Amino acid sequence: MKFGDLRGILQYVPQFRGRTFVVALDGAIVASENFSNILLDLAVLRSLNVRVVLVHGAAQQIRELAEKRDVELSNSDGTGITDEKTLEVSLDAITRLNSGVMQNLTSLRIRAATSNAIIAHPAGIVSGLDQGFTGTIERIDTDALESFLGQEILPVLPPLAYDATGRTLRVNSDAVAFETAVALKAAKIIYVLPEEPDFGLPTQVSRQLAENEAEELRQRIGGDQPSGLRSKLKFAIRACREGIPRVHLINGNRNDAILAELFSNEGIGTMVFSDSYRQIRTATQADVDEMLLMMRRAVEDEMLVERSREEIQVRLSDYHIIEIDGNVVGCVALHPDPEAGVAEIACLHVKKAHEGQGYGGFLIKEAEKLASQAGLKVYAVSTQAVSFFERHGFRRCEDRGFLPEDRRKKLATNGRNSIVLVR
Ligand SMILES: CC(C)(COP(=O)(O)OP(=O)(O)OC[C@H]1O[C@@H](n2cnc3c(N)ncnc32)[C@H](O)[C@@H]1OP(=O)(O)O)[C@@H](O)C(=O)NCCC(=O)NCCS
Repeated sequence: MKFGDLRGILQYVPQFRGRTFVVALDGAIVASENFSNILLDLAVLRSLNVRVVLVHGAAQQIRELAEKRDVELSNSDGTGITDEKTLEVSLDAITRLNSGVMQNLTSLRIRAATSNAIIAHPAGIVSGLDQGFTGTIERIDTDALESFLGQEILPVLPPLAYDATGRTLRVNSDAVAFETAVALKAAKIIYVLPEEPDFGLPTQVSRQLAENEAEELRQRIGGDQPSGLRSKLKFAIRACREGIPRVHLINGNRNDAILAELFSNEGIGTMVFSDSYRQIRTATQADVDEMLLMMRRAVEDEMLVERSREEIQVRLSDYHIIEIDGNVVGCVALHPDPEAGVAEIACLHVKKAHEGQGYGGFLIKEAEKLASQAGLKVYAVSTQAVSFFERHGFRRCEDRGFLPEDRRKKLATNGRNSIVLVR
């Protein structure tokens, strides 16, 4: 490890300290070889004073046990009808699995307690069908969970709930994680899947999705994925709407999955975030040095026109910075010319280490939004990123009559042979 990496990691420590993370493990992950590594990741989080709550599913174990006993299940993941036989198999499988989780935690000297903090009522009749022993979560006994967390005891929540009469009900673990996170005002939910979150779409899906983008994605993907990806996406979106800042979907079979996801800006999985995470703000004097520094490479390679400190300072309010977790990762300028009714998108730059995460596209969109709010048409001038603008809906424009005169003159004389693009 490089010292730079360590610095990168340490920046998260104050941010995470005292926060609650709900980690929801798919049952298949609990059965996987990587399970002990996942628990080690949790131990690291706890040593940084993160309050971890562990939720686990058990669908795989329930299916396996049902097969062994030759029982036909009415449902295995707590989302459909739970008949009496299914409840019986589920209880046995979950109890056994829970005991395995406890064993592993004990071997890592992590104090843990299984809790009956999920209070539910029978789901009743849905679409004309009695859901049997399936529960709808009513509330979470946060006092009980807080008391465990206060004593540094890791609460473990299996996908079971109890109603007022003490009856056991089967609930879905994604829902348990969601309800628990909302009740505890958690900073994160981390859904740990047994594979990469693959949405089965032909086009690449951004790994960082604002809640509205995640909703669009959810609409686009068809029926449920094997690991319940669509359900997790649904709860991720709901969680963001309920004030949970970030929900991560990660492949638990990757080495250091949880740590790699949390201790880097981009992570390794897919993250759904509420709007506060990715921030665009107007540049300040304090950003000028950083902007000059980050653009140096692009200026040397003639991707960007050189700007002096003074040039930036004079039009500082035109410059916008994108921050991820408080770190500057890129910038864009929008130079308005209200007389000509246009605004130029310029100085678009994303730091090399952060390229390919959708920030460039996001900066263009934000600049367009600002221009549209001001009632101005946007254009851009480029030599080496023409196709980048084209993929964001810009087209080449030979006629330069719409440009402000000084801009037109400059383009004709600076010898860069730039291409003008309009929306
Ligand atoms: C151009 C730039 C802003 C893109 O930022 P980014 O955050 O990587 O962009 P996104 O993540 O939104 O998009 C990445 C995609 O754009 C493509 N792309 C990146 N730079 C490109 C370019 N110059 N021309 C065409 N496509 C480009 C990538 O190959 C990637 O394609 P993929 O999704 O098919 O893999 C960034 O590469 C940069 O700062 N470059 C140097 C400065 C520059 O050229 N600025 C533009 C001045 S007009």
